[in-house]
Amino acid sequence: MKRRVLFVCLGNICRSPLAEGLARSKAETEGLTELFFDSAATGGWHNGHPPDGRAVVAGRGHGVDISDQRARVLRESDFEQFDMIVALDRAVREAIEQRRPTGNSTPVALLGSFGQDDNPDIPDPYYTGRFEAVIARIQDSLPGLFAELQATDPQ
Ligand code: 4NP
Repeated sequence: MKRRVLFVCLGNICRSPLAEGLARSKAETEGLTELFFDSAATGGWHNGHPPDGRAVVAGRGHGVDISDQRARVLRESDFEQFDMIVALDRAVREAIEQRRPTGNSTPVALLGSFGQDDNPDIPDPYYTGRFEAVIARIQDSLPGLFAELQATDPQ
């Protein structure tokens, strides 16, 4: 059965596009064709924009092309259309929870909580330029996320 996972950060131009690209690449490498990934923002400043050029370059350095992605804002229908929503930090997770439609029970997870780092937040690189650290944290967290998806597979 198709599993649909939505990564969400503040702007959808740095962290969540990288998470989407790296997760898709990992699923392809592992032959996990049932996994589908997308990403979105809690804020609308960059709606329709391509990812930050620094994120594109950093992704390329890890064999992932995210340049075709376009930022969009989290919408109410995402809570129905995705099986899991994955926030890049706790502030984003709170913003997602505030938009949850009444009666919806889609799990909202924290990507960093699947990894080894004590800090569950994957820090925003927009002002720091620390894109390699973001990629390292995402790569550290994806195996745990994939294990969780397999453990909760309804099939
Ligand atoms: P992201 O980074 O949430 O990882 O996409 C940000 C991008 C833009 C802004 C904040 C964070 N901004 O304030 O415009």
